[in-house]
Amino acid sequence: MLSAVGPPVTVRVPAKINLHLAVGDLRADGYHDLVTVFQALNLFDEISVVSTHTGRHVDRIGPGAPGVELLGEVTDAQRAEIPLDASNLAWRAAVALAEVAGREPDVRIGIRKSIPVAGGMAGGSADAAGTLLALTTLWRLDLGREALMEVAADVGSDVAFALHGGTALGTGRGENLVPVLSRHTFHWVVALQDHGLSTPAVFGELDRLRSTSTPESPVKRVGDVEPVLEAVASGEARSLALLLGNDLQAAAVSMDPGLRRTLRAGVAAGALAGVVSGSGPTCVFLCADGPSAVRVAAELSGAGVCRTVRVAHGPVPGARVIDGDPAR
Ligand code: C5P
Repeated sequence: MLSAVGPPVTVRVPAKINLHLAVGDLRADGYHDLVTVFQALNLFDEISVVSTHTGRHVDRIGPGAPGVELLGEVTDAQRAEIPLDASNLAWRAAVALAEVAGREPDVRIGIRKSIPVAGGMAGGSADAAGTLLALTTLWRLDLGREALMEVAADVGSDVAFALHGGTALGTGRGENLVPVLSRHTFHWVVALQDHGLSTPAVFGELDRLRSTSTPESPVKRVGDVEPVLEAVASGEARSLALLLGNDLQAAAVSMDPGLRRTLRAGVAAGALAGVVSGSGPTCVFLCADGPSAVRVAAELSGAGVCRTVRVAHGPVPGARVIDGDPAR
């Protein structure tokens, strides 16, 4: 329970996976150009924001003393890996939005995590996106979608997609989004690890691998994105399974060779295909249908190749207010 002044606004925000992730060369600004197909899955974090402003008295929680706390059951990994200081992405989102709104970030942010931390499913970005939507509601800002998406893109590459949800084609750093036609549901098994991988380190490892690539042992790149978009539109899991691809996978596997076993085990358990999610180490497995995903999850959880498994489906909508919206 968040302790502060006034009723909280709570937002539910999904994890993402990348069905296709083509990574270009390192840019001068330290980022890489991407062509990616995001899909939002029904693994959600919940973000609650509450005002610390009482009218007469402002509880002095400002940029120097961020009001971020973890709610619910908190694992050791979450405690170890989620910064509760000014570097927390949700707090940075609050500060960025407060600046646009011309006000103080006089709020407390509570985060209830289900999305793996440092897992390649954009959990930190989801929390930032959830904070943006929750504060837009709490502060009754009339920003418009475009402006909110711009703030999101400034906060992090994946934040805009967490607001957007569904399935989308991402370009640039991943923040330029175009919705992808996807009326069909795909069924996934998500294999979570007991450790994280740092996104910048995985991008750096890909640069290193590419710099040592030779014609005899090249670092392969994923193919064109168009067939992936067609497979998504067709709703045929078997077609999509043949096309799942992630340029960061080689780098994630190089840093964490055990992922090879995880990927093999998922397919051996009956999945159509598996791929590292984003920068990893989470692996996701596409299954033929819901019952098949349940069977694959059961078998994979006994294979000793991951910490835990989840059955999931996508696409699902992006960040949504689930409680405290005065307009509802
Ligand atoms: O934008 P975000 O803060 O989420 O990115 C985290 C890190 O991931 C960046 O600092 C960069 O090292 C890497 N990255 C990248 N190219 C992208 C997105 C992220 O190199 N398009």
